[in-house]
Amino acid sequence: MTAIILDGNALAQKLRADFKTRAEALTSRGQRPGLAVILVGEDQASQVYVRNKVNACLQVGIHSEKIVYPLDTAQQTVLDKIAQLNADPTIHGILVQLPLPRHFDSDTVLEAISPKKDVDGFHAENVGALIQGRPRFIPCTPYGVMQLFADAAIELRGKEAVILGRSNIVGKPMAMLLMQASATVTVCHSQTRDLAAHTRRADILVAALGKAKFVTAEMVKPGAVVIDVGINRLPDGKLCGDVDFGPVSEKASAITPVPGGVGPMTITMLLANTLEAAERELPR
Ligand code: GUN
Repeated sequence: MTAIILDGNALAQKLRADFKTRAEALTSRGQRPGLAVILVGEDQASQVYVRNKVNACLQVGIHSEKIVYPLDTAQQTVLDKIAQLNADPTIHGILVQLPLPRHFDSDTVLEAISPKKDVDGFHAENVGALIQGRPRFIPCTPYGVMQLFADAAIELRGKEAVILGRSNIVGKPMAMLLMQASATVTVCHSQTRDLAAHTRRADILVAALGKAKFVTAEMVKPGAVVIDVGINRLPDGKLCGDVDFGPVSEKASAITPVPGGVGPMTITMLLANTLEAAERELPR
């Protein structure tokens, strides 16, 4: 079997065309949607992600504000900035790029963001709502993966879904969304015994562990849907995912490439959440 490619770039373009219309409608009603992105330090990958997020805003007509702090910035400086953005009526979404420097307590920073502007969906209040099955902001990466499933009409009900990685950003919210979609969900992590025994049972396999080409063809059930959340840089500078794409794409029924799979969808759902936040603030 040769897998169909779940093309994140194509789906992102399709969705973003509609976002442009929504942003224009908001702007014409005096509610130009606005996103603030805070970056602390000089992490190379984070700089690229933040630049891509700001450019995507520009593309669909969302106002964006990029706030960059040097590595040695005090946590209180960032907390003060978040308080100011929480009160700013021109800003509907606030995102603090992770990871933060080691002297920061990420939980304290994320909890300082108003839940109404928490377009990453990382605030405990929004995480709680997601677990209860009534999400207000869905974390962007798993949200994007759900859009890829929907667009390709991939049935999730009753399927065995296996997630590699238990992060707050991907693994945990992905598990909640797949459970809500009536899949049977297993979350594997660094301490899981006999990982391949789990992955070989998976109808839906989501790799989000951050290890280049970790998922080999031997670990994949024939006909599985394989979602690769990994973005790893190889010594030659090329990007590659957590999945050994060539051999796995010969065995799977559908697969996301890296780049061009999940990545563009993550940014797209950030735009969706920002528009949603701005629309909720409109007078009825
Ligand atoms: N770092 C890696 N992924 C993400 C994300 O989705 N949001 C934020 N804020 N930081 C990240």
